[in-house]
Amino acid sequence: MMAFLRLACMCALVCVRGAPAVSDAPDPCVNAVGAAEKALTKINQDRQQGYIFSLHHLSNYNQAPHGSAGVIYFLVMDVLETKCHVLSREDWQSCEVRQTHETPVYGQCKAFVYISQEQKDVRLYSYRCRMRPAPASKIGRLCPDCPSRIDMDSVEVLKAAKLSLEKYNMESGQPNYFALLNITRASAQGVFGMFYFAEFTIQETVCANSTDISQAPNCTLMDCEFAHKGLCKGSHSVAQGREYITVSCNIFEPEAVEKEKERHLLGGEHGHGHNRSHARPTPPKRPLGTVVYLPARQQQSSLPPLPDSPPPFPSFTEEGLEEPGHPAAPPLPPEGVQCGALSLHLHPGAL
Ligand SMILES: *[C@@H]1O[C@H](CO)[C@@H](O)[C@H](O)[C@H]1NC(C)=O
Ligand SMILES: *[C@@H]1O[C@H](CO)[C@@H](O)[C@H](O)[C@H]1NC(C)=O
Ligand SMILES: *[C@@H]1O[C@H](CO)[C@@H](O)[C@H](O)[C@H]1NC(C)=O
Ligand SMILES: *[C@@H]1O[C@H](CO)[C@@H](O)[C@H](O)[C@H]1NC(C)=O
Repeated sequence: MMAFLRLACMCALVCVRGAPAVSDAPDPCVNAVGAAEKALTKINQDRQQGYIFSLHHLSNYNQAPHGSAGVIYFLVMDVLETKCHVLSREDWQSCEVRQTHETPVYGQCKAFVYISQEQKDVRLYSYRCRMRPAPASKIGRLCPDCPSRIDMDSVEVLKAAKLSLEKYNMESGQPNYFALLNITRASAQGVFGMFYFAEFTIQETVCANSTDISQAPNCTLMDCEFAHKGLCKGSHSVAQGREYITVSCNIFEPEAVEKEKERHLLGGEHGHGHNRSHARPTPPKRPLGTVVYLPARQQQSSLPPLPDSPPPFPSFTEEGLEEPGHPAAPPLPPEGVQCGALSLHLHPGAL
């Protein structure tokens, strides 16, 4: 897929203005796709909620030299939601994108990223993503028996999440109970009864697994950097008078634990095992950008016009993107290669 992305980009490259000042400079478009890949990795790492995005296509970009040996890219990327949650901290390139019957979620991210000449230093300044699910009518036509997306706040979904988490707490053998964090996806299917499916995140609580299970919903979250989090898929159904509950969860090793392990492996601290009461609550990190989830389009939209020129370089500050119309910071020098990559792909909007 990456090879295809590069190919699509190179073949359709339209250089609007100018050429690299240095004649043996590498192909700027290839660099831009590489920059988009790196930027998306940083965006996924920065996010605290939702599923990891995968790069579908570099839709457009602009670039400007920055400092003595780096480039700032303004990237417009078409992205697809994968099945990996950001808490898993998986690499997006190894995550599976949702198929048609799983109601794909697609959208666009705009980002500013600085990349040094040797590509060693990658710094994400800011990003803004807008995502929406593929229209239900479209999915229904392609796959009439597939579960359809439903409101994540519905009573049935919450019930499915609670019951399946209770099952998990009873059966997992984990030392502590887990509590529900957020419902991240919900769907329903009506065949011989109604099936409700919930995907949700969970976090470790302070209650040991010997605690009475009826108390589990009241257990307080373990609020330290060593608390485990996870992603669960649960379902609840009543068919022919019988109730069925299924659950499976992936528990992710907290980042702090991995860092700790690394420190020990590097011999920095010789371990008597870490003392959990040292652990302080993680200070909330200010996100570098935003992700907005929009409702599905009501009807099939036509393909947007193909970009034939680079996007105007928005005003840029070290803090990130400025809203259009706001007083602009001094713009970056306009020289430099400006390339627009035409889309050879089906736009995700056509899903
Ligand atoms: C409780 O946690 C311990 C590990 O701390 C585990 O060995 C045991 O199987 C768990 N018990 C239950 C009932 O899940
Ligand atoms: C997730 O849960 C937390 C804590 O309950 C809440 O603050 C946050 O708004 C929720 N996020 C979403 C996307 O529902
Ligand atoms: C949880 O706590 C509240 C008050 O703190 C109490 O009213 C409720 O009964 C408790 N729930 C369970 C399941 O123990
Ligand atoms: C853990 O650290 C706390 C405070 O630093 C200390 O009071 C406690 O004795 C330590 N516990 C162990 C098992 O080392």
